[in-house]
Amino acid sequence: MIQTFNSTAENRVCSSDFKTANNLRFGIGTFNELPRALKELDAKKVVIISDKGLEKAGLVNKTIELCRSLPIKVSSFTNFVGEPTFELLEEVYSTLKNQAYDTVVGIGGGSALDLAKTAAALLDKDRIHHYLNGEQTIQSRTTSLILIPTTSGTGSEVTFNAIFGDEEQGVKRGLISSAFLPDLAIIDPSLTISCPKRVTAASGVDAFTHAIESYIALRATPLTQMYAEKAMKIFPLSIKRAVHCGSDIEARSNMSWVSVLAGISLANAGVGAVHALAYPLGGRYHIEHGVANALLMPYVFAITGRSCTKELVEVASFLKLGDYTNNPHKAHTEVVNYLYNLLKELNLPTSLKELGVEETALPEMAKQVMAIDRLLSNTPYTLQEQEVLEIYQNAYNGVLK
Ligand SMILES: NC(=O)c1ccc[n+]([C@@H]2O[C@H](COP(=O)([O-])OP(=O)(O)OC[C@H]3O[C@@H](n4cnc5c(N)ncnc54)[C@H](O)[C@@H]3O)[C@@H](O)[C@H]2O)c1
Repeated sequence: MIQTFNSTAENRVCSSDFKTANNLRFGIGTFNELPRALKELDAKKVVIISDKGLEKAGLVNKTIELCRSLPIKVSSFTNFVGEPTFELLEEVYSTLKNQAYDTVVGIGGGSALDLAKTAAALLDKDRIHHYLNGEQTIQSRTTSLILIPTTSGTGSEVTFNAIFGDEEQGVKRGLISSAFLPDLAIIDPSLTISCPKRVTAASGVDAFTHAIESYIALRATPLTQMYAEKAMKIFPLSIKRAVHCGSDIEARSNMSWVSVLAGISLANAGVGAVHALAYPLGGRYHIEHGVANALLMPYVFAITGRSCTKELVEVASFLKLGDYTNNPHKAHTEVVNYLYNLLKELNLPTSLKELGVEETALPEMAKQVMAIDRLLSNTPYTLQEQEVLEIYQNAYNGVLK
């Protein structure tokens, strides 16, 4: 089925805001400027939020040392592994509440940053359940917030959403608030050098998912597309080098740019069907967010890409796959094949079967996806439940159709 969406980003949106972090400090070595940043924010009592992996990599201790160069009180919460859940968020909240922290420093991948930004925004609040169940939006934050990404990545340091697993429902849910945008994001590519190969690959392709999905999104504007385009142009120059030669600082630096540029676009234009199909994989099977997005992307685009051939001609050109101005259908095929082959080149899984997903669960997952209207309604293709199931089935078998 071919669907045509004739509107372009220039005329799609009547009203659009554009928000990002208050300040972005990018560069090799900028991590060492943390004490200056804390002084600028007049920090007196700081809590560092991170995870066990970052602790093991020595990055939490380095953060503590930097803080201790100032006459301030410092503690840390790092007692978790994996992607955060609402249960963990409540634990962090009750551990840190009433301790009079004036500043939260989040350091890590999207997991630690999502936890840190949400905790920072909740610390001045009582009775938080109506925020967690989505009944009420968090309007403000009085605790200062610095976010330092160590993957590239989710772009969480520039987005106003935070994603948590809901163990009861077996799904992942996002909270949205401008209060999640930090006072300062410190993006130091050298911090990503220790990032493991699989995380580098998965989070790098995740950043590309943000770029391509937000580029074609129905909420895209010329401003968001500018960021997404740049991210997609840098991506092919560096992703393989960053994965296969992790100490290549130029590749790491480029991937940090991809992550932040794509994150800015994602935050303001939103993402779409790839993310919608990835949510049940995270919720039910705890498959890492980046792996789920990377794996699903070619299978989803094989179907949804039929409606945005003009944009895919542009994407093919950003990726230097060729000029398909006169053959948009070929552009579609080329982009989908590029994304599929990339999985193999980066040693990422190509089928849901490999990840232990049960074939019998696919229809139920397709039903769950149909309820994620926020993402499906931003996709320039109206997916039917039968098509979602078809995508899952193809991804399960690892066969592009
Ligand atoms: N808020 C947003 O806008 C947004 C966007 C996309 C994804 N997310 C969320 O982000 C999470 C995924 O984040 P992620 O892909 O960055 O991975 P992650 O934060 O889950 O980290 C994965 C693993 O890599 C380790 N690690 C990270 N950086 C390292 C480094 N430099 N050295 C050594 N180890 C390192 C971590 O300790 C962890 O064990 C998911 O929960 C996802 O839903 C949020």
